[in-house]
Amino acid sequence: MTTQTDPGHWQVIATTAQLDLPRPLLPVTLRGKPYVLFRDDAGALGLIGRHCPHRGADLCYGRLEDNGLRCPFHGWHFDRTGQCVEQPAEPEGSKMFTQIKVPMIPVEEINGEIRALVPEDAQ
Ligand code: FES
Repeated sequence: MTTQTDPGHWQVIATTAQLDLPRPLLPVTLRGKPYVLFRDDAGALGLIGRHCPHRGADLCYGRLEDNGLRCPFHGWHFDRTGQCVEQPAEPEGSKMFTQIKVPMIPVEEINGEIRALVPEDAQ
């Protein structure tokens, strides 16, 4: 017996023009869950959980840098996959960041629309 997972469905969440901002970052709610949509400094899109797993800061106020988003409170840095890639206040050599990830939803941009692949059980 095989088990199939639901691949989800593509849903338009914004237009390219909506993200054409000095800070290309928008709050998005999908299936009642908060996310932040952003375009990184290389032009690639990311859609990750909106609240930092450290103390819950709103990543919509984060800083766009190094192909990701840095939390405005204590500087944890997340890439477009939602993976934490840096924790500035941790001791040198700490790898704790490798255990930390926020939810991520795949996105694509086609003909001026930004679409997200929303799973039925979006986190
Ligand atoms: S609340 Fe985000 S790094 Fe502390």
